[in-house]
Amino acid sequence: MSREAPLVGLDLGSTTVRVVVATPTEGGSELQILGVGEHSADGISKGAITSIEDAISSISGALEQAERMTGVPVTHAYVGINGTHISSQEVHGVVAVAKADGEIREEDVERVIEASQTMVSPSNVEILHVIPRTFTVDNQKGVKDPIGMSGIRLEVDAQVIQGLTAQVKNLTKCVYRTGVEIDELVLGVLAASEAVLTKRQKEIGVALLNIGASTSSLMVFEEGDVLHAGIIPVGAGHITNDIAIGLRTSIDVAERVKLDFGTAMPEEVGKRDEINLAEIDPKESGVVSRKHVAEIIEARVAEIFSMVDKELQKVDRSGLLPAGLILIGGGAKLAGLVEVAKREFRLPAAVGNPLNLITAIDKVHEPEYATAVGLAAWGAALQRGGARQSKFSTVNDVIGKLRGWVKNITS
Ligand SMILES: Nc1ncnc2c1ncn2[C@@H]1O[C@H](COP(=O)(O)OP(=O)(O)OP(=O)(O)O)[C@@H](O)[C@H]1O
Ligand SMILES: [Mg+2]
Repeated sequence: MSREAPLVGLDLGSTTVRVVVATPTEGGSELQILGVGEHSADGISKGAITSIEDAISSISGALEQAERMTGVPVTHAYVGINGTHISSQEVHGVVAVAKADGEIREEDVERVIEASQTMVSPSNVEILHVIPRTFTVDNQKGVKDPIGMSGIRLEVDAQVIQGLTAQVKNLTKCVYRTGVEIDELVLGVLAASEAVLTKRQKEIGVALLNIGASTSSLMVFEEGDVLHAGIIPVGAGHITNDIAIGLRTSIDVAERVKLDFGTAMPEEVGKRDEINLAEIDPKESGVVSRKHVAEIIEARVAEIFSMVDKELQKVDRSGLLPAGLILIGGGAKLAGLVEVAKREFRLPAAVGNPLNLITAIDKVHEPEYATAVGLAAWGAALQRGGARQSKFSTVNDVIGKLRGWVKNITS
């Protein structure tokens, strides 16, 4: 791809497909947004494709909208991948340094990273990312960049992020069928971190939590590296479902109740505060207590947060991340959520908005756009190359394999 071609981020959510078309500014520190597109998502649930035809039409709808705005057809995209089939694993690799004088070269680093992947055994998974954390040169631990150092034995500790082959293939197939080539498949929340987190936050320790409609995905960073990734099958859509059941209303009415009157903090709502359902939908009748709605929300939020905290406990970081918790995704906009997060996690918390953008399109600053913007930012960072590339060396040969596979089945 030429340097001038715009970067496209494609985020396949359970409720909304979002496209962001952007170009890096001179110097690369900012992204200029050229256009966006969005379409309600059918055929996608919890990051998995449930209907290929429906998913293709939703993706096409979002792409067309972005194309109308920019006047340029979308031919390539960085595509986000999400879903509970994705898991992360610690791996370790060891190789002997190839050169006789013992100077470590890029090829040695590539070989050791490749060696670490042999620990990932099941045949039904595809490796999406291999993120080296630290290297060991002979017995010196904690080496960040071993290239040029002298040594005989090179080791790496890395984080591997993998997904189920079948799910990866279905997603890839849908995107190709819309006529778009995939530059790279990137774990959604990892891409989002490019857009909303600062280098300093990743350095001192931070958790990024994307609360979507059907999933909540977490990524923990420390010392600039990925420490952990976890995807939980519960999101803000479950809050809507709980309200629908609790109030015995339709899902659409429950969603409006949540957006217009919902809060995660029942203690802030007066006892006499009431919602007239007929004002939302004339077919409904009766009044409901706003406090009752808040209690329903609070219960589900507590469940999501306790599942997230379990993920933090897995890496011994519960209550221990100095830069706290950054919340993105549509669910992050729920009233009172940040306050509850501070209390429950015993950490600083804030909503994450995409940073360093030049745009007149307001909605890209919203937390639900973090993933789509992050995917374009990921592309920009790859183009810049350099230090970052060696840090997040992404092994996406899955794309090459799948391209061949999709061509076979569609021709
Ligand atoms: N202002 C708001 N207050 C509360 N909730 C909101 C608000 N805006 C959006 N949401 C909720 O956010 C959810 C949608 O978020 P988002 O668009 O990030 O999900 P998605 O990407 O489609 O889903 P997923 O990532 O799980 O596949 C919905 O449940 C919606 O009700
Ligand atoms: Mg999402």
